[in-house]
Amino acid sequence: MSGCKSKICNPPIGVSGDPTGVSPEIIEACKELNMTNDQLKQYMDSLLDNIQKGLKKETNATAIVKCFPTFVQDIPDGTEKGQFLALDLGGSNFRVLYIELGGQDVQKFQIFVIPDNVRVGSGDKLFDFIAEALANYANELGVADKNLPLGFTFSFPLKQVGLEVGLLERWTKGFDCPDTVGKDVVELLKNAIAKRGDVQIKIAAVLNDTTGTLLAAAYKYPDTKIGLILGTGTNACYIEKQSEAELFDEPDRGSGKNGGAFGDDGALDFVRTDYDKDVDANSLNPGKQLHEKMISGMYLGELVRLATERFTKEGKMFGGQASNDLSTRGKFETRYVSEIEWDPPGDFTNVKKVCEKLGLSQATEEDYLNLKYICSCFSRRAAHLVSAGLATIINKMGEKTLSVGIDGTLYRLHPQVKRLMEGKIKELVDPGIQVKLVLSEDGSGKGAAMVAAVAAKNDT
Ligand code: GLC
Repeated sequence: MSGCKSKICNPPIGVSGDPTGVSPEIIEACKELNMTNDQLKQYMDSLLDNIQKGLKKETNATAIVKCFPTFVQDIPDGTEKGQFLALDLGGSNFRVLYIELGGQDVQKFQIFVIPDNVRVGSGDKLFDFIAEALANYANELGVADKNLPLGFTFSFPLKQVGLEVGLLERWTKGFDCPDTVGKDVVELLKNAIAKRGDVQIKIAAVLNDTTGTLLAAAYKYPDTKIGLILGTGTNACYIEKQSEAELFDEPDRGSGKNGGAFGDDGALDFVRTDYDKDVDANSLNPGKQLHEKMISGMYLGELVRLATERFTKEGKMFGGQASNDLSTRGKFETRYVSEIEWDPPGDFTNVKKVCEKLGLSQATEEDYLNLKYICSCFSRRAAHLVSAGLATIINKMGEKTLSVGIDGTLYRLHPQVKRLMEGKIKELVDPGIQVKLVLSEDGSGKGAAMVAAVAAKNDT
């Protein structure tokens, strides 16, 4: 597919949500996707209330937004050195990484596709798969016997009780190995590695991808205080004062983590549409992660598909003829949304390809414009919701200037998300606060090495 896939090229300016040439009935039907600032502020009040409950000891157990402490007490200062291994589980790919910090930073990795019957099933199978991938790659690189420190990026809700101990709360994003819920995932990994006996490593830390993202960005931009993932899932972590983070009992500073789980108590019902309810009802975790399901890459394509399918069946698009693929769950990939929005005004290259792929070869120019408009309405809603989430945290932190380190496929690949976020954050933060959005280069990989490195420094 043509179209620019990285932020290096200039995205088409000012076209997101352009209604020119779009059918009035499609514009009308998409109105519910346009969130006003009043609605976003209502959302922010409710999120703040949830974060406060998550931070407090007496309310954390029942809080929807858990704000688990990360046990990371320092951010890197650029002097970190050494060789590290990292595992990254929970994004679009599972990766094993080798990272050298200090001097010329070196990073190598191998991607592994997790088969469906490993993603959903017994925990043994999943952790054996992870240990095998780690052992094979470490052996290939000749570092299997070096006892290197390893950072384990495990991007699912995890109740950390230490830097190297994390109890799994629940699975999200299409994973489900029920026999591991409540268990320490570091212990599960250690056992799977020990069973094999062909790789020596020291697990230095388990972390969420948002934590890695914060740290990897802070290595380059020292004023980074928030890490955000906008990828398969969405979540953020931020540096919180010790006095506020009641779950973190040690001296110094704690960091709080917020969650894609917001809305699971009905707080988002005032803006959830039929499409959101459908996506949720057909997921592996109905009733959970409702905020994330309105925003992130795992769901955005499906939301667009559901709306497009409905409008087609109502005779508003594609001559009323839905193809098999348009009527099949999961067939409208989220990357299509980005690709379609990369088409400059008047150019239908990508949207045409997507329609052909979906068996909608009868599409007219009006259909292309309608489909692009639908994509832009869902992307804009996602960008605005994420911005409102960030603005809530930023206003709570009370810093006057800060950077937000961001990673994730949706943020990287979508042509308009960054611009939309910059605009909306400005509108929603308290007067006088300056916020910069910075790309965090491989937070889940490099960030894991940073956490391991910072931990090693604190050990000495
Ligand atoms: C999901 C996970 C969370 C992770 C986020 C981004 O929300 O539960 O832990 O940070 O996805 O990958």
